[in-house]
Amino acid sequence: MRTDYCGVLNTSDIDREVTLCGWVDRRRDHGGVIFIDLRDREGIVQVVFDPDSAEHFTLADKVRGEYVLQVKGRVRARTPETVNPEMATGEIEVYGLELDILNRAETPPFQLDEHIQVGEDVRLKYRYLDLRRPEMLNNLKLRSDITAVLRRFLVERGFMEVETPILTRATPEGARDYLVPSRTHEGKFFALPQSPQLFKQLLMISGVDRYFQIAKCFRDEDLRADRQPEFTQVDVEFSFATEEEIIATNEEMIRQLFREVLDVDLGQFPRMPHAQAIDKYGSDKPDLRIPLELVEVGDMMTDVEFKVFSGPAKDPKGRIAALKVPGGNDKLSRKQIDDYTKFVGIYGAKGLAYIKVNNRADVEEGLQSPIVKFLPAEVRRQLLDRLQAEDGDLIFFGADKAGVVNEALGALRCKLGKDLDLYTCDWAPLWIVDFPMFEETDDGSLTPLHHPFTRPACTVEELQSNPEGALSLAYDMVLNGTELGGGSLRIHDAQMQRVVLKILGIDGQQAADKFGFLLDALQYGCPPHGGLAFGLDRLVMLMVGGESIRDVIAFPKTQTAHCVLTEAPSRVDNKQLRELNIRLREKPQQ
Ligand code: AMO
Ligand code: AMP
Repeated sequence: MRTDYCGVLNTSDIDREVTLCGWVDRRRDHGGVIFIDLRDREGIVQVVFDPDSAEHFTLADKVRGEYVLQVKGRVRARTPETVNPEMATGEIEVYGLELDILNRAETPPFQLDEHIQVGEDVRLKYRYLDLRRPEMLNNLKLRSDITAVLRRFLVERGFMEVETPILTRATPEGARDYLVPSRTHEGKFFALPQSPQLFKQLLMISGVDRYFQIAKCFRDEDLRADRQPEFTQVDVEFSFATEEEIIATNEEMIRQLFREVLDVDLGQFPRMPHAQAIDKYGSDKPDLRIPLELVEVGDMMTDVEFKVFSGPAKDPKGRIAALKVPGGNDKLSRKQIDDYTKFVGIYGAKGLAYIKVNNRADVEEGLQSPIVKFLPAEVRRQLLDRLQAEDGDLIFFGADKAGVVNEALGALRCKLGKDLDLYTCDWAPLWIVDFPMFEETDDGSLTPLHHPFTRPACTVEELQSNPEGALSLAYDMVLNGTELGGGSLRIHDAQMQRVVLKILGIDGQQAADKFGFLLDALQYGCPPHGGLAFGLDRLVMLMVGGESIRDVIAFPKTQTAHCVLTEAPSRVDNKQLRELNIRLREKPQQ
C-alpha cells in the first residue's frame, strides 16, 4: 500500500512520486491550502493539498486528527522561508495528488502532544494511542534493537536459547508468587516463575553448557518506578566457567550494546566489595556519578553529651555517618534542609543533624549548627579534619541503627546529586562483589542476600560454623544507581545445597518437598556452573533516559498491579470457579 515511511523522506527524494500511509497528526487550513502532518512509525511529513485537485482537496478538508490516510504525492523542496529545522523532514514536503481516507477516528481522549496533562491512568487506558507518540514508539524500537544486539552477542558466543516453563513451582527469589489454580489437579496450584533460576541450572546438568533466554518473570511485590509484577530478564547461564569469565563476558555484552546502540564507550567497569559500597555510599547499588561519600564518625562520638550520637556510637549495630556537601552552605537554604530532614524520615531517620562550616579555622564561632554545642572543641576539630571540610561546606549527619543510617543517607546522597546536579559523568557502571551470603531479618533468622542456590565462598564446615560471616560468589552489575543485573556461581554439590537450605530453616522433609527435584539432580553429575540475569526493562529505561520502566513496556501495569486497559485482574464466572473447585469467601463484615 505504500512506497515509503513518512518520517524518512528527505531532499534526496525530491521529485519522486510516493505513496504514504499514516495518521493525521495535525491538519491546518491556510488560506485555501490544506496542510496535513501525516505521521507513521518513523515520523511526520507535511502534505499539502491545494484546490487544483478539487476532489482530493474536498476530502482533505474533511479529515480530522487521527484519521487514517493513504496519500499519493510528489516530494518537493520547501521554500527557504518555510523550512522547519525542528522537523527531521523539515526541508521537504509532499505535494498531494490523491487522498484516500482509510478509516475515520473519534476525537481521541487526549491530544498526543498534550499527554503530560492527562494522568498516567488515562494514558494506560488508551495505551494504543499513547504508543502512537513518537517518543513511545521510539522506546519500543530501541527495546527491539537492544534485544537484537544482546541476542546476536550471545548466539555468536555459543549460547543456546532455551524456553523454560511458565506454569511451574515456586522459585524463591524473595517475592510473593503469582499462583494459577489447576483444574486437573484439584486443590493444587502452579506458580508463575519469579525467574528461570532452577530450570537454567537443570539445563546445565543436562549439558546445554551455555544457555540464554529473554524470559518473562512474575513477582507479586510492592511496585516502584523500576519494578513491575511482570518483567523481562535477559537470563544467562554458563557451565565450566570461572566467576572471572562470567563477569568478563557479561561486561563485554553491555559494553558492546552501548557502543552499538548509543555510540557510548563505557570502558572497564570497576569492582567494589559489598562492604565498601555500604560504607561509602550506604547502598549496594551506588550511583558513582555523584562524588559525595559517607564518612564514618562514630568512633569520635562515644563520649559526647548528645545522646542521639553517643547512643549509636556505643551500639555495635549502630552507625554515625557524615555526608559533606562541598559549598553546600550557599546552595542549601534552611527550608531545603528542613525538606531533606523530612525526606530522610521516609527511611526511618529520626532527624538530620547538620553543621554549616562558615570558618573552619574557628571551631568556637565558625560553625553553625543545632548540635555543635554538644561537641567538645577537640571533637569538632577531629571531625573537620576527617571530612577535610572547607569554608562554605555543609555536613549532614545520620545516627541510628546502621541499616537506617545507610538507607537514609544513601538516599539523601542520591537526592542531593539530582537536586544540585552534581553528576560528574553520564554513565557510571560497576560490579558489586563479595556479597554476604545471608542477611539477618527482623526476627533474627537468616535470609539469602541473593537466592539459596548461590555458592558460598567457603567450605561447608566454615559455613556451618559462621553463616553470618560467610561471603558468597555473587556479583551485581550496577549502572547509575540502578541494579541492572545480578548473578553468582551456583552450588553444584548436593551436600552444600542441603546445608544452605538448613541454615535458611528449610530442613529434611520440607527441603525434599520444595527442592527435592534439584537435590536429586545435583547427584547425577552436576557441572560447576554460574550465570546472571539482567533486568531488560531497567536496561532499556536507562538507555532511553526514562524515569520509569513503564515507559519502555508496551502494556505495563499500574502501581497497584492493575491493567487499566483490559481491566485485569477481573472476576471470573462461577462455572469457571466450579471447574477449579474454588469458592470465593464473602469478605468479612468490617
Ligand atoms: P534478581 O532477582 O536479582 O536475580 O533479578 C535479576 C534482575 O532482574 C531485574 N528485576 C526486576 N525488574 C523489573 N521489575 C521487577 N519486579 C524486578 N525484579 C528484578 C533487576 C535484577 O537485577 N535468578 C536470579 C539471577 C541469577 O542468579 O542468575 C535473579 O532473578 O534488574
Ligand atoms: P533534637 O535534639 O531532637 O532537637 O535534635 C537536634 C538535631 O539533631 C536536629 O537537627 C535533628 O534533626 C538532629 N537529629 C535528631 N535525631 C537524629 C538522628 N537520629 N540522626 C541524625 N540527626 C538527628
